[in-house]
Amino acid sequence: MANVIIVGMQWGDEGKGKIVDLLCPAFDAVVRYQGGHNAGHTVKFADRHFSLHLIPSGILHPGTHCVLGNGMVVSPPAFFGELDRLAEAGVDPAGRLFVSTRAHALLPWHAELDQAREEARGDKAIGTTSRGIGPAYEGKVSRYGVRLGDLASDALAERLKTEHRRVKVELDSLGAAEPTSLDEVLALCGEWAERLKPLLHDTEVLLSQWIEDGAPLLFEGAQGALLDIDHGTYPFVTSSNSTAGGACTGTGVPPTAIDGSVGVLKAYTTRVGGGPFPTELEGETGEYLRDRGNEFGTTTGRPRRCGWLDVVAARYARRLNGTGAIALTKLDVLDELEEIKVCTAYEVDGRATETMPSDLGGFARAEPIYETVPGWERDTAGITDLAQLPANAREYIRLIEDLVGAPVDLVSSGPRREETAVRQDGVLHGLLGERFGRVVGKRG
Ligand code: GDP
Ligand code: IMO
Ligand code: MG
Repeated sequence: MANVIIVGMQWGDEGKGKIVDLLCPAFDAVVRYQGGHNAGHTVKFADRHFSLHLIPSGILHPGTHCVLGNGMVVSPPAFFGELDRLAEAGVDPAGRLFVSTRAHALLPWHAELDQAREEARGDKAIGTTSRGIGPAYEGKVSRYGVRLGDLASDALAERLKTEHRRVKVELDSLGAAEPTSLDEVLALCGEWAERLKPLLHDTEVLLSQWIEDGAPLLFEGAQGALLDIDHGTYPFVTSSNSTAGGACTGTGVPPTAIDGSVGVLKAYTTRVGGGPFPTELEGETGEYLRDRGNEFGTTTGRPRRCGWLDVVAARYARRLNGTGAIALTKLDVLDELEEIKVCTAYEVDGRATETMPSDLGGFARAEPIYETVPGWERDTAGITDLAQLPANAREYIRLIEDLVGAPVDLVSSGPRREETAVRQDGVLHGLLGERFGRVVGKRG
């Protein structure tokens, strides 16, 4: 078992950055397959702190190759900014960062459209990250988009002229400011093409070669299963396939080359932006989770909405992704609570259901049915051995395993790489094989 997909099992910000970073030593390359700089992945170890948006967390491991796959929408200025910040922090990506020629360029117009549309939606806004992700994917699907490998193409000026006209009409109709001028965008594309040139590759060929050579690959999902454009809580979703299936279309790697999927699950739930959230807590406990969990967006700084763990949603994510093992994060955030609730089913229009309603109305009307368990009221921060966990915390984990239907093979008890406990005999250990043994060994 070599090639593994990591997917968030909720609405994003589950701690994927930390988990991907942790698992990196077991892989030769980390591959992003969808999304753009709407993602914000935090990695902390020792006294170091990194926020990554486009570049896979693997970049922090010297020798690990990193790929930005064809399924991504890449804002070149955001990408260059990230590279510059990494360089300032002493991270050298030379020779190990590969960007797909087929990934789409996120142009200034995309963010302008995103912001104007959100404003026009008023109180029905999606609450996007305003980065232009939706319009960039829309451009791709409607075949007006520009791929990174085509930024220097002779046909670019003509294509952008048509696109500029379209964008101007829409922005006018929304009463928004003029779009960035055509000349400015054309000049930018020229600059971007120049700086991107040494990093652009036919990454599909590269990945296929690496797979043939037996190099294990880690696919880093951004966002979470419930933000998936097809399977998420539409229309309050992002515009790409964040679930495991996206790893194939977003990289060109066939399903037959994938060996398994690890789900990252936060011990409670958070959501940024609009949309129904059945287990949301608006009072004191919600505030407690936000404060203690430091639940503020890595990308936009917005306070995250907080609530109890929703097992109906997590089970749905497990099915969609084929989750073989769960990495449970932020257990320590629950430390002070006297009791903890877990949503085991919903009541929709007077009927109990254990599955996610597929229509927005049904999901918006879903009332959580809770099971209440006692808290542990003890400090678990920094625990590296599962046996050190209080009995009630171990019970909580067992309940999650039973209800979600997958083993919790890793428990994260703090933001730093070191603050992690791995189940030695777990499926995760088996799934990742001998190489993962080295990671586990290091952690003792
Ligand atoms: P991602 O988007 O899934 O990579 O998650 P983010 O990085 O956006 O958000 C997760 C936040 O929780 C970050 O600030 C992490 O440093 C932090 N974090 C991750 N795991 C833990 C944990 O086990 N305990 C605590 N207290 N914080 C954690
Ligand atoms: P990571 O990878 C949490 C949310 C936005 C909004 C919706 C659509 O850090 O987990 P978009 O800008 O993508 O069109 O916004 O999706 N969203 C995220 N929420 N974590 C993320 O990424 C997110 N990326 C997008 O808040 O509700
Ligand atoms: Mg995040």
